[in-house]
Amino acid sequence: MLPVLLLAACSDSDAPTAAAATQAEPRSGALLYRQFCVTCHGSGVAGAPKVGKENRLYWSHEVEEEGFDTLVQEAINGVNAMPPRGNCFDCSDEEVRNAVIHMLQLSGAK
Ligand code: HEC
Repeated sequence: MLPVLLLAACSDSDAPTAAAATQAEPRSGALLYRQFCVTCHGSGVAGAPKVGKENRLYWSHEVEEEGFDTLVQEAINGVNAMPPRGNCFDCSDEEVRNAVIHMLQLSGAK
């Protein structure tokens, strides 16, 4: 009886599936925004453009002038006092993109 149990315990057939599942789901923009971006963009710290409806014109203008993809690239690479990935070091490009979308939605610009 015992050898059979040991064999079963050694089986790691589930492992690859579990690993894939942990990296599959990108975190939501809302979550990342609250965790990282709001520190600066919620109140305008360090000259960060404030997020919110009262700043809708600024963000609409940015989207129109620079384009959404450029904003995402700037958020990924950083610009001036804006740190790369907004200090979310383990954020994927897609997750940073989600956060930018959320910022634009909060500002009514997208
Ligand atoms: C340490 C403060 C700080 C944090 C944290 C931060 N930002 Fe910024 N962000 C800035 C500043 C400052 C600017 C203005 C940069 C400039 O244009 O001079 C900026 C600008 C931007 C812009 C506009 C770039 C432009 O064209 O004007 C985007 C988009 C942006 N941030 C996205 C994000 C996202 C998404 C996050 C969270 C993942 C984030 N930021 C976190 C400080 C911050």
